[in-house]
Order: sequence, then structure tokens, then C-alpha cells
Amino acid sequence: MNYNNYYNLGYFCLLMEDGEIIARVSDYVKSRFKGDSSGHDWEHIFRVWKLSLKIAEEEKADLFVVQLAALLHDIADWKLSDNEEECLEKTVIFLRSLGVSNERIDKIVSIVRNVSFRGANVYSEMQSIEGKIVQDADRLDAIGAIGVARAFAYGGHKGKKIYDPKIVPKLHDSFEEYKNSDSTVINHFYEKLFLLKDRMHTETAKKIAEERQRRMEDFLISFFREWEYAE
Ligand code: ADP
Ligand code: NI
Repeated sequence: MNYNNYYNLGYFCLLMEDGEIIARVSDYVKSRFKGDSSGHDWEHIFRVWKLSLKIAEEEKADLFVVQLAALLHDIADWKLSDNEEECLEKTVIFLRSLGVSNERIDKIVSIVRNVSFRGANVYSEMQSIEGKIVQDADRLDAIGAIGVARAFAYGGHKGKKIYDPKIVPKLHDSFEEYKNSDSTVINHFYEKLFLLKDRMHTETAKKIAEERQRRMEDFLISFFREWEYAE
């Protein structure tokens, strides 16, 4: 019997199965992200959740931690929130109220803290296999045809230019530099998206990334062909 699955609610002591906790967290995340138009909508979270499960089939991992981390991975993202620490604190309180053990909460929070890309020359510090799975899934959803769509959705949301040949791509040496860069969406392919394929942790993700990389390359070849046609 796992007593961490109990929580007190007035006079009641309810048993929450792992599946029910996951359902509660997914409801919470869905309501928080459903209106997003920056490419971080509920559908992105849902794909990362399902892709994480697919990748985890070939790995030895705690599927409960994988699923909660996938569902919560963007909850405190610097691109979407003004106060990452406050978002994380609220998440911890929420997970405690559902009866998730402190050990698992620590693992989930550490994944959420480390999941984001922070610049071409800044390497990820993801330690756990659960974190590697979620980071791979998140990165797979940043590339390929969906990656193209999300990049332009994000660019539009943030008021970024589609392309400007005068602005050259830059491989950022620090998170600060990457965060404050005023680049274009096309440059984002060179500054981040094309780099992800070689930074996948799992064999499953590496294979999926190959095909998605080609789709982005095909897109850019067409883009530049049409751009030059107008010149
Ligand atoms: P990460 O946390 O690794 O950045 P996310 O799940 O937050 O991953 O998704 C990042 C997505 O946001 C990218 O795939 C990309 O589409 C978009 N994005 C982030 N920064 C930029 C940018 N400067 N220009 C265009 N798109 C961007
Ligand atoms: Ni994400």
C-alpha cells in the first residue's frame, strides 16, 4: 500500500490512484493552456505527453513521473510566465494536495526547471531518464512540420519578423543572450531547431528526429527559392 496516495479532505481519507492523479493534472493543465496562441497550447502538451509515453516504451523509467513531468513541462516556462518560481511553488502545492510523494515531486520539479533550450552553446543538465524522455518529446514537437507551424505561431505572438537577410543567425553562448535576442523566425531554425536532432538522448527520439529534420530542410529550401524569386 502506498500511503502517499492518501490525502485528507475534511473527514475523508481518499485513495487516489496514479491514473486519477494524472487525470486531475491533465485537466488542470488543459484549462491553463487551452487558449494559447504561441505554439504552447494544450495540443502541444498533449503531444509531448503521448510522445513521452512512446519513447518510454524502450526505456526503464517511472511512467508516473514521466507523465506528470510531460504534462507540467511548460507550466513555469520563462517564455510564458513572469514568475517561474511562483509557478513552480503553486505546482508543488497542487501535487502535494493530490498526494504525490515528495521524492517524485522533486524529480518532476527538477525536470520542469531543466527542460527548456537555453542557447546553442549552453548544454542541458538533464540527469534522470524521465527528464531525458520528456526533453526529447518536447524537442521532437519543436521540429518537423509541426515545428515549422509552432515557430511561426510563436514569432507572430512575440511580434518577430519572418525573415530579414540583414540579420544573421547567432549561436548564443549564454541563456541571457539567447533570451534577449531580437532575431527572426527563419534564424530560429539555425539558432535552435536544426541543432536539436543531434542533442536527442534516446534512440527512439533520434530516429524520429531524422525524418522531421528533413521536413524542415525541405521547407527552408522552398522558402528561400520563393524569396529569391521575388528579388
Ligand atoms: P523549449 O522550452 O525548449 O523552448 P517549448 O516547448 O517551450 O520548448 O517550445 C519552444 C517552441 O517555441 C519552439 O519550437 C519554437 O517553435 C518556439 N520558439 C521559441 N523561441 C522562438 C524564437 N525566437 N523564434 C521562433 N520560435 C520560437
Ligand atoms: Ni513544450
